[in-house]
Amino acid sequence: MLRQIVYTSLVTCPLTPAAIELLLLKARRANALSDVTGLLIHSNSRFLQILEGPNDAVVALYAKIEEDKRHHSLRLIDDRHTAFRAYPDWQMAFEDNPNPNTNDVVLKSLIRMMNHIPIDKVA
Ligand SMILES: Cc1cc2nc3c(=O)[nH]c(=O)nc-3n(C[C@H](O)[C@H](O)[C@H](O)COP(=O)(O)O)c2cc1C
Repeated sequence: MLRQIVYTSLVTCPLTPAAIELLLLKARRANALSDVTGLLIHSNSRFLQILEGPNDAVVALYAKIEEDKRHHSLRLIDDRHTAFRAYPDWQMAFEDNPNPNTNDVVLKSLIRMMNHIPIDKVA
């Protein structure tokens, strides 16, 4: 059984493009080893990330991500066991400041999901 987790968070300090690139480089390398795939969106000082993979790998990774000081106020949007990956081809795909009017319906709904959580409501 696979695990799929979707969370949002708020960026602690603005991340430079180089800092994001390094984060992604390390994340993709580690995720490839543990068979984790997904998507990371960075927009308006927020992140939304989807993590999919073997249960133990995703749980261990999310525990590390929760402790990461580069972001805070993590909010678990969805957490499920699943037989199939929803996004098998996303090797931690990355979208920086995506256009909310994009024609990509999946991306559009994720941006909406991310932005509909008011900052003052984030636990
Ligand atoms: C928004 C965000 C997303 C992250 N996504 C991943 C990821 O998909 N995979 C990963 O290995 N690390 C990711 N990290 C980094 C982890 O929090 C952590 O720094 C990393 O797993 C290194 O762990 P280590 O101490 O075992 O080297 C992410 C960090 C942030 C802030």
